[in-house]
Amino acid sequence: MSTTARTLEGKHVLLIVGGGIAAFKSVTLARELLARGATVDTLMTDAGQRFVGAVTFAGITGRAPLTDLWDASFSGELHVELTDRADLIVVCPATADLMAKAAAGLANDLATAALLCAKSPVLWAPAMHTRMWDHPSTRSNIAALRARGDLMEGPVVGALANGAVGAGRMSEPTAIALAVERALSPRDLLGVRLLVSAGPTHEALDPVRFIGNRSSGKMGIAIADAAARRGAEVTLVHGPIAIRPAHSSVKLQPVRSAREMQDAITALRDVHDVIVMAAAVADYRPAEVATQKIKKSGETLSIELVKNPDILAGLGSWRGEAKRPVLVGFAVETTDLVGYARKKLERKRCDCIVANLASDGFEGDDNVVTIVSADGEDALGRAPKSTVAGALLDRIKALLKTV
Ligand code: C5P
Repeated sequence: MSTTARTLEGKHVLLIVGGGIAAFKSVTLARELLARGATVDTLMTDAGQRFVGAVTFAGITGRAPLTDLWDASFSGELHVELTDRADLIVVCPATADLMAKAAAGLANDLATAALLCAKSPVLWAPAMHTRMWDHPSTRSNIAALRARGDLMEGPVVGALANGAVGAGRMSEPTAIALAVERALSPRDLLGVRLLVSAGPTHEALDPVRFIGNRSSGKMGIAIADAAARRGAEVTLVHGPIAIRPAHSSVKLQPVRSAREMQDAITALRDVHDVIVMAAAVADYRPAEVATQKIKKSGETLSIELVKNPDILAGLGSWRGEAKRPVLVGFAVETTDLVGYARKKLERKRCDCIVANLASDGFEGDDNVVTIVSADGEDALGRAPKSTVAGALLDRIKALLKTV
């Protein structure tokens, strides 16, 4: 089972729950944020509490929701303290009423007082009937909120509370959690075009069989997602894999064989600043692909294999001395990790090789990698693939500044 990457570790989110049917989804959002490592304070409006009980949030977040601006048991100023510690305020569901009040600068309850006192970014997840969404008042309130830098996630077109279909349905909790990730990540890769390959390749034997490997594609996808969060334009060329990136901005290009992967990458290489070859490309393919299913016959069956093109080495020689795009390779070894990685670095003429032992990285959610480059070796220790991806992107960012 795959675990959620702890992309919000150390972050403090203030979740404001407004009064709408979609309030029940804010419980799932709280869960999604907690799973990513965030601390979540919940603030519920009076209307919000009509839809979901405060006890539900207390149970899930481990912190009692705050509801009352006039809470006499609290000695300080609640709206100031809450907003002081928040790295981000998420309003979910964001009603037309809450947005109107925030746009006008009203502050007559805890939610609106907190919004007026905000020192962190505010992310709104609107939810309302299409007619309210389309109303000129809502349109101008949203324009005002956007103009002051507030972020919006959704709404989407879909089934509304009364069963009608239209614009105004709140985005799903996962989409809102991803918007939170983006809002809280440094946008330090804006404008960088990154091409990542991931997964295995399947080399056909006949119409139903292939030679492949156990690569899950998780490492490449972690890199694609982490780069998308940080603002890069990402294309993922991937072999047959069961998982997909979380961020919908990642462009997908599915392929099957090594040669298909090579064609896809060759077509895209000119328009990318960085190419990361995280795919486990098959080194050999069957010399011939049978047009009909190979039938069972003798006790043994020999298959002749021929070498596949080495895509990374090809990119290394195509690039020559230019050092652009930045080129990153991967190496899975069973012995002498750094020794083999260094030979690959030289032979394939790339900027760095991310090396790991087969026993450490294949299929799982964690990896133990050493980044080998001309400058030396950087052993990262055991870490989630999302953390490895972040460290690699830091390295890539530094490489982009050179030359
Ligand atoms: O030589 P080895 O397969 O260990 O090299 C691994 C690196 O080379 C990975 O980055 C992989 O994506 C890339 N590779 C390639 N084409 C191949 C084999 C490997 O691009 N045919």
